[in-house]
Amino acid sequence: MTKNNIFFEELLQWADNLFREKASMLNKLQNICKLLKDEVAYYDWVGFYFVDRENSEELILGPFEGAPTEHTRILFGQGVCGQAAEDGKSRIVQDIAQEDNYLSCSIDVKSEIVVPIFKKGNFIGEIDIDSHKIAAFSDGDEVFLKLIAEKISKLF
Ligand code: SME
Repeated sequence: MTKNNIFFEELLQWADNLFREKASMLNKLQNICKLLKDEVAYYDWVGFYFVDRENSEELILGPFEGAPTEHTRILFGQGVCGQAAEDGKSRIVQDIAQEDNYLSCSIDVKSEIVVPIFKKGNFIGEIDIDSHKIAAFSDGDEVFLKLIAEKISKLF
């Protein structure tokens, strides 16, 4: 197990504690964003996009931590988030300058990871994380964030 994996194990336990607290679902989602952004040095923007109940082909920005973004609504297929929504697959973009279908939030962002959230097999939203570091994310982040996504799914 790498040092990072041991740290992720700890974070998963902290996340469990957060989810057990008596708080609204929105508060829990906000707190998990804060936990991830504060504790993982290269997580510079952490947020959620959820499927719009009125339009199942569109994502709406949920709780997030980090700089405000103009991308409060994203159509399926648009950008990294919209592509992940379309096929329900995680994305790691090591260098956003090389990605054609990308929605820029800030010039500081260099790499990005998006991990879908499913409820009973249906895509309901995703975790989106930006880093100011190029090639910040590894498979370890994906495994970790999939476990976080499973926990989040249980809040719905
Ligand atoms: N970069 C994303 C848009 C969301 S922001 O990162 C917060 C994309 O290409 O879909």
